[in-house]
Amino acid sequence: MSAAPQGKRVLSGMRPTGQLHLGNYHGALRNWVDLQYQYECYFFVADWHALTTGYEDTAGLPEASREMLIDWLAAGLNPGVATLFVQSHVPEHAELHLLLSMITPLGWLERVPTYKDQQEQLKDKDLATYGFLGYPLLQSADILIYRPAFVPVGEDQVAHVEITREIARRFNHLYGREPDFEEKAERAIKELGGRNITLYRNLRKRFQEAGDTAALERARALVEGNARITVADRERLLGYLEGGNVSILPEPQVLLTATPKVPGLDGRKMSKSYGNTIGLREDPDSVAKKLKTMTTDPARVRRTDPGDPGKCPVWDLHRVYSDEQTQQWVQQGCRSAGIGCIECKKPLIDKVVAEIATIRNRAQEYEQSPELVRGILEEGCERARATARETMNDVREAMGLEYR
Ligand code: TRP
Ligand code: SF4
Repeated sequence: MSAAPQGKRVLSGMRPTGQLHLGNYHGALRNWVDLQYQYECYFFVADWHALTTGYEDTAGLPEASREMLIDWLAAGLNPGVATLFVQSHVPEHAELHLLLSMITPLGWLERVPTYKDQQEQLKDKDLATYGFLGYPLLQSADILIYRPAFVPVGEDQVAHVEITREIARRFNHLYGREPDFEEKAERAIKELGGRNITLYRNLRKRFQEAGDTAALERARALVEGNARITVADRERLLGYLEGGNVSILPEPQVLLTATPKVPGLDGRKMSKSYGNTIGLREDPDSVAKKLKTMTTDPARVRRTDPGDPGKCPVWDLHRVYSDEQTQQWVQQGCRSAGIGCIECKKPLIDKVVAEIATIRNRAQEYEQSPELVRGILEEGCERARATARETMNDVREAMGLEYR
């Protein structure tokens, strides 16, 4: 059995919605750009996920995927360090999804909060489909196939990572057995050598008897940091900490993205469906024009009326873009009617336009050469597939599907 690298890998995905807007950028993408230099990152275009709610009209999918990828690159995702790919180009996701579907109780899927919520929200679509119900399981397969330590997502996706953990646990419980596991694990403990033998035993006991998760973390670090033991023993020792199984599909953790509030032009959350967005590659004049007419505190009708930034979406943008000094200037000026809204928006417009201009510039190169984008994708898909294949070999073997 090959290694299940833990502690370093990150995976996340995004549905292809076409060109991204500032809400997408501050809600996820910017965070990915930071993460790529701290972890081994896999980021993918979740095109199959788009089908779970939009199966009728699929004509725009390739274009939407390509445009989103260009935004990723323009925003600073670096294909030299992060693995960027498209879900449907790695068919192993589908195989794992199928195999996991065999062990997934229907009730688990029906209980996922987004199942009923989305069906109600998207009333114009018939979402009483098999694919839509199974969508969180597809997401579980997307995640588990890369055996990541962390999955960076926003609040709305936490339940999906939670079900992923449950499915991993169930899989490991069902198929993570090997004959004489306990015996082999005990033998592996001795391989740790010296004081680590007692330390491992004590930490394991503290976790198993008292649920001490800090002890579990320390024990994991102890195992992972040990260069003397074999990969197989490492897996046994990690599995033995929590129970009697080898962890074929390690449980990933949520890396909750701190998402600032990014209001759209009308003050509601920025979203394509509200038509209130500012595009990541939008032309500067258009951006400035949009911001100039953006909603402000509705109580501030005349220039002489004092306002309340707490009730103004422009203030929320200042919180994302402006430094401390500017923020104070806004607070004071607004509350005392010392500044007008046009004046208040000026430094904000400068910042947003500058940010977008950088992204626009970087995007140009990719817009002009589709081969460049295609090449990046091909390379990313190759890398992703190599990792996915490794996992699938272990999965098939564990499930007894390795025919020779
Ligand atoms: N479901 C996610 C969304 O709608 C996208 C997604 C698909 C994803 N697979 C994933 C996110 C795996 C993280 C990990 O935004
Ligand atoms: Fe909003 Fe600024 Fe106008 Fe105050 S001055 S209402 S914060 S735009």
